[in-house]
Amino acid sequence: MLRWVSRRMRRPGWDVDLERPEGDLPAHIGIIMDGNGRWAKQRGLPRSAGHHAGMLTMREVIRACDDIGIQCLTLFAFSTENWKRPEPEVEYLMRLPEEFFRTEIDELAERGVQARFIGNTERLPEHTQEVVRQTLERTKHNRGMVVNFALNYGGRSDVVDAVKAFAGEVAAGRATWEEMTEDSIEAHLSTRGLPDPDLIIRTSGEIRLSNFLIWQAAYAELWFTDVLWPDFTRETLYQAIRDYQRRKRRFGGLK
Ligand code: IPE
Ligand code: IPE
Ligand code: MG
Repeated sequence: MLRWVSRRMRRPGWDVDLERPEGDLPAHIGIIMDGNGRWAKQRGLPRSAGHHAGMLTMREVIRACDDIGIQCLTLFAFSTENWKRPEPEVEYLMRLPEEFFRTEIDELAERGVQARFIGNTERLPEHTQEVVRQTLERTKHNRGMVVNFALNYGGRSDVVDAVKAFAGEVAAGRATWEEMTEDSIEAHLSTRGLPDPDLIIRTSGEIRLSNFLIWQAAYAELWFTDVLWPDFTRETLYQAIRDYQRRKRRFGGLK
């Protein structure tokens, strides 16, 4: 792992050596990476500086999750509602994936990370879609950790798309309405084939899901912190995982 460390500067709080959480790790972690704007405001910087710093944190989180053996990580980067923001901010956010994947693609590929995109990527600007295609192409044979980049993602639209896809199969005579079950809906969601998130982390003190993985989160353990996303560190990540490990998951039973 020293290879990665020497390649470039680490973000503060990530170059520290902490005892890794072991044992019952969440198979799938979802993160609502919130608070970039407030982080920038605190420093008298433009919001874009916060988004840039947040991108650097995202890089560290991917590395750390891969290092400790997380199977799947879903990162909420842009919601279907984020189009409501001022155009220059949206434009900046749509440029960030280019920088991120240009600098990270080699490392992701070397780590064996399978990059996926969830959300309606067809509505992204062409230059962003081009990065999406290149990233998928570069990592498509990888068999390591799955990283879902949720870009133009909305949980409701994920469910609507799944129902539409199933309805299409009924219309084509390949399925019947009686076969419409939770499993058949799930089989058409953007996260099909992946375990449901065990742990969902949200930063910046907001206590809501904001349309993130609403179907898949039915039994997720939710973990909230006041830490703003660019200030999120290895210690915060490990703390979330350790708290998760202390929770009693009952799934409606009595265990
Ligand atoms: C999260 O940070 C990033 C995106 C939603 C794209 P915000 O931009 O929401 O930061 P705050 O919530 O304004 O601080
Ligand atoms: C959720 O954050 C979306 C992402 C982190 C990409 P928002 O900042 O958009 O959420 P709200 O508006 O505070 O609910
Ligand atoms: Mg926000």
